[in-house]
Amino acid sequence: MPDSSNTSTAIDLLSKASEVVSEEITSETKEIAPYTRIDLGDVTPHNIKLLKKVNQVVFPVVYHDKFYKDVLESGEYAKLAYYNDVVVGGVCCRIDVTNPEEGQIAKKKLYIMTLGCLAPYRRLGIGTQMLDHVMDIVDKDGKFNSVVLHVQINNEGALRFYKRFGFEVVETKEAYYKMIEPADAHVLE
Ligand code: ACO
Repeated sequence: MPDSSNTSTAIDLLSKASEVVSEEITSETKEIAPYTRIDLGDVTPHNIKLLKKVNQVVFPVVYHDKFYKDVLESGEYAKLAYYNDVVVGGVCCRIDVTNPEEGQIAKKKLYIMTLGCLAPYRRLGIGTQMLDHVMDIVDKDGKFNSVVLHVQINNEGALRFYKRFGFEVVETKEAYYKMIEPADAHVLE
């Protein structure tokens, strides 16, 4: 899988890409779609800066060093997404096990912490490829009870994306986010 040997150049490219008006690039890219390739690759100490950059650009939440330290140890649960060998997205998951109430058994859930793609590269199937990867892990493991994630209540695009794959809002948590508005989050499962 491609590993960037020139991280700072790649980061510059990511920053520039995020400044471009997304609709223009998306339509142009869709026209050349037959010549494009989407891959997922491992997160390694060599390319983790690229994941940090993508997350900084894509999410309003700041993820700290501990998050990335855990990601580096999470193996298949974290992936970078490449569009023609350029990093344009990433997905990071973890396993959550619920505390069972009396008489019940613990539930093993796959929690999607982040799944995002740079704006100019959206609606090209990159999010789908990352979610397919997550669902493959769940299928192969066979012991997960569900896949769960939080989405900010005003994030219409993400809600439509996840609903398309059968996710449903199972709960809405008030004041879930600390530093961003709106602070409420839907829980999707
Ligand atoms: N509006 C309506 N439907 C959408 C949208 C949208 N903005 N985005 C995706 N969909 C639906 C469509 O049905 C689409 O198929 P189509 O393009 O053939 O109509 C289908 O989902 C698949 O779309 P993809 O191209 O695979 O998804 P994309 O690569 O654009 O990624 C994502 C979707 C990840 C939500 C992207 O918009 C993104 O990165 N957003 C910012 C970050 C974010 O909000 N992440 C998710 C919430 S946080 C979390 O997951 C934990």
